[in-house]
Amino acid sequence: MITGRAVLAGVAGWPVAHSRSPRLHNHWIERHGLDAAYVPLPIPPERFAEAVRALAACGFRGMNVTIPHKEAAFAVCDRVTARAHRAGAVNTLVFADGAISGDCTDGLGFLASLGGFDPRAGPAVLLGAGGAARAIAAALLDAGCPRVTLVNRTRARAGALAAALGGAVAVADAPPLADAALLVNTTSLGMAGQPPLDLDLAALPPHALVADIVYVPRETPLLHAAAARGLATVGGLGMLLHQAVPGFAAWFGVTPEVDAEVEALLAADIPATWPAR
Ligand code: ATR
Repeated sequence: MITGRAVLAGVAGWPVAHSRSPRLHNHWIERHGLDAAYVPLPIPPERFAEAVRALAACGFRGMNVTIPHKEAAFAVCDRVTARAHRAGAVNTLVFADGAISGDCTDGLGFLASLGGFDPRAGPAVLLGAGGAARAIAAALLDAGCPRVTLVNRTRARAGALAAALGGAVAVADAPPLADAALLVNTTSLGMAGQPPLDLDLAALPPHALVADIVYVPRETPLLHAAAARGLATVGGLGMLLHQAVPGFAAWFGVTPEVDAEVEALLAADIPATWPAR
């Protein structure tokens, strides 16, 4: 039950109907007995800045931002965190004291989803060079990863990303798997409706962790192949759950738990295996 005092937040996307964030946040709201609501906000790109300012004026505490608004969200902010600056994108907005503040929690969410994995353990190989790759590469480097190698279909895009990140970032045509501690797919390959990612994992060392940010299906062909080789794997659902925590805490004043219950809640309608039906 929400009252006249309810705290409001939401998720902006275009389209936004597929977003699982309302289900997640409203579950946490219910769990913590909060007088609050989290709603989907379908906002067309050309009206994004206007809509954000209007929501702030309506008393919203803030919002999540998803495709295609993450760069526009960066631009609308009065201030952004250092990690949002490094990611070049914002996925979490907080409205307070008449200002719009932006954060990017995607990289943090990815790292949290890896459980006990220490990015200092060794080099990482990232497949892809889009927005997700940028946030994840920045988070890995900031957490002490000794080297990140970017492998992308469009090599020039990987080069531009490496230059923007600076530091221990390399670009390669073939993934240097032999000394990799972590392999991450940030492309859409392996997602339901897309071709699978075709990569021979034989050269990965036995201690390597294989992660995929795709979460539909929960076990992509890449993760299936890695598991078949006896490697540890992490799917994309954990990143989705963990990236939501800082926003919830900022708007509603409670830090929510990512546990088996919320994971099951979100996994319920996602196909487990590929090809997804
Ligand atoms: P996001 O912000 O989610 O990272 P994006 O910016 O559209 O999304 O990036 C998608 C990534 O998937 C890119 O690295 C893209 O490669 P290109 O830079 O060459 O476009 C990669 N990708 C998408 N479809 C692909 C395909 N069929 N084969 C190889 N890479 C693909």
